Amino acid sequence: MEATFLSHGPEETEGLGQGVAELLAPGDVLALCGELGSGKTCFVRGMARGLEVEEALVASPSFTLVNEYPGRITLYHMDFYRLRDLEDLELIGFWEYLGQEAVVAVEWADRIPQAFPSDTLWVHFSLVGEREREISFRGEGEAGRRVVEGLLRKG
Ligand SMILES: Nc1ncnc2c1ncn2[C@@H]1O[C@H](COP(=O)(O)OP(=O)(O)OP(=O)(O)O)[C@@H](O)[C@H]1O
Ligand SMILES: [Mg+2]
Repeated sequence: MEATFLSHGPEETEGLGQGVAELLAPGDVLALCGELGSGKTCFVRGMARGLEVEEALVASPSFTLVNEYPGRITLYHMDFYRLRDLEDLELIGFWEYLGQEAVVAVEWADRIPQAFPSDTLWVHFSLVGEREREISFRGEGEAGRRVVEGLLRKG
C-alpha cells in the first residue's frame, strides 16, 4: 500500500504526523527516511501530539540516539544517522524496543534498512521547495495497510 502527500509547511507536516499517530497501535514501527531538514523530526513532533505525549519533551535524538516519550502509547524516537550496522543496534538495544507495546519511530532508517521487520511502515520525505515537502508512506504488512488506508480515508 502506498500514499503520497504534499505538505506546504511545518504545521502541515506535524498535522500529518498527528493523523498517522491516531491510526497507530502498540508495536508499530515507522522508518523515516529523507535528507537533512526534510521534516522527519517535525513529523515525529506531530506523532507525539497524536499519542498524547507532552510535546515539550520532543527533541531531535541525534545525540541521545533513543528518546522515550510516555503517552497514550509510549513513543520511542531514534536516530540512526551516526550508526552503521547491526552491531551498533545491538549496543542501543534496538530489538528490545521493538518487542514492547510501544510505537517506534526511527529517523535515518535507511542507514540500516535490514534492521526493520517486514511489517514496518516506511515514510519518505523529500524537499520540493523551501516550505514544500513530499511525504510518502509505504507498507506491505498489516500496519502499513491500516495506516495508508486510514490516511486515504481522511483525505
Ligand atoms: N513543509 C514542511 N514540513 C516540515 N518542515 C518544514 C516544512 N517547510 C519548512 N520546514 C522546515 O524544515 C525544517 C525541518 O526540520 P526537521 O528537524 O524536521 O528535519 P529532519 O528531517 O528531522 O532533519 P535531520 O535529518 O537533520 O534530523 C524545519 O526547520 C522546518 O521549519
Ligand atoms: Mg531530525
